[in-house]
Amino acid sequence: MEKRRTIIEPFKIKVVEPLTVLSRDQRAPLLRAAGHNLFKIAAEHVTFDFLTDSGTTAMSASQWAAMMVADESYAGSRSFHKFERVVQQLTGYQHVIPTHQGRAAERLLCGSLLKPGMKVPSNNHFDTTRANIEFMGAEAVDLVIAEGLDPKSSHPFKGNIDIPRLRAFCSAHAKEIPFGMITITNNTGGGQPVSLRNIREASAVYREHGIPFIIDACRFAENSYFIKLREETERGRPVQEIAREIFSLASGCMMSAKKDGLVNIGGFIALHDAQWVESLRSLLILTEGFPTYGGLAARDLEALAVGLEEVLDERYLEYRLAVTRYLAERLNALGIPTVQPPGGHALYIDAKAFLPHIPPQHFPGQALACELYLAEGVRSCEIGSAMFGKRGADGSFIPAPMELVRLAFPRRVYTQSHFDYLVEGMEELVSRKDSLVGLQMAHEPPFLRHFTARFEPLP
Ligand code: F0G
Repeated sequence: MEKRRTIIEPFKIKVVEPLTVLSRDQRAPLLRAAGHNLFKIAAEHVTFDFLTDSGTTAMSASQWAAMMVADESYAGSRSFHKFERVVQQLTGYQHVIPTHQGRAAERLLCGSLLKPGMKVPSNNHFDTTRANIEFMGAEAVDLVIAEGLDPKSSHPFKGNIDIPRLRAFCSAHAKEIPFGMITITNNTGGGQPVSLRNIREASAVYREHGIPFIIDACRFAENSYFIKLREETERGRPVQEIAREIFSLASGCMMSAKKDGLVNIGGFIALHDAQWVESLRSLLILTEGFPTYGGLAARDLEALAVGLEEVLDERYLEYRLAVTRYLAERLNALGIPTVQPPGGHALYIDAKAFLPHIPPQHFPGQALACELYLAEGVRSCEIGSAMFGKRGADGSFIPAPMELVRLAFPRRVYTQSHFDYLVEGMEELVSRKDSLVGLQMAHEPPFLRHFTARFEPLP
């Protein structure tokens, strides 16, 4: 096909929803009532919902059609077998355990394998993965490369795990590590990809030490396309083949299908060996449901079976990665610093660099996220000290390594004109950024506190 500069949305729109646009004066009391926590804002009061790319996909006509032919039998449903076949073909793993979403898969794996004192290394654990590991009394260890913690570094694979540190860690603790992980793409560290070479090397380290290797695969397709774009040796390869090789390097995967499964709910564990399957299925029956539906309706399994194939369409992936790149370029041109290079599912504004007058203990990321809501109707998510800040033994504040605001893009939902409209508003925000004030936490829950914490603006 003729090569053009503009990368179009590779779909037509058949079903539409109205978009709410409120004024700043209408949004201000809503934000106050929500305790300056955007998780507590009603979606109908949001114009651009960039809170997450999880479960927010627009499904295709083929997915909706598949849902209509689902077999809702309790046991042995035809839809399960279709889903199982698709996962087996995609991953090469024999044993497929459906779950209602990613954290249910995490809970099963952690609940059946972890004991207090154990350790699970990864590049970066996502917050629910970390919480599930810590809930079992084990330790979640992040070993991302140093470039992954530097928002300005333009390393093409900032999600890579630090191989020398991983090797040293595994040598020192092999007996306490029931499984090791890698998250693709690396959500916590900036939505950054992991190179195929790095996955091969991590796989070799885990194998040397006899440690099973589990991939957190929720954005495997985006990661595979980044590999095709950025990894010299992989340029000409079909993305499906790259994905297949990634899975072949591990013992299994956990997946929140709400991302690259292109569905609104769903997840699974898939494993090469039968070793853990029985205990996982027993726990599945206890908390999720029978092994052939695992907390999902058969229609969800049908939609997922189609989504896992659609997501590897290279025209879709080209468009998908262009979304983030386009907005990053426009915001950078306005002087808004973002994590470089732009990631796959989300754009991360570096709030520490953008608002240097607000120190980490006053949550510059959360302050910016609140202002983006007031000014633009954007719902974003702070990934900084509100989410990951800690208290020392003496109660002192320990900041997160970065203060980021994540704009995560639902798949196939917003169009280029939505982003252009947003950029116009951001121009105005830049001109008065020095007048923004920080926040203090008024209520601090013990686990996953960012979901329910309340904040107050500083006087
Ligand atoms: N792993 C990663 C890398 C994730 O990004 C998520 C979810 C999960 C696991 C858990 O999956 O939500 O289906 O239970 N991330 C969402 C996000 C919530 O907004 O990034 P889940």
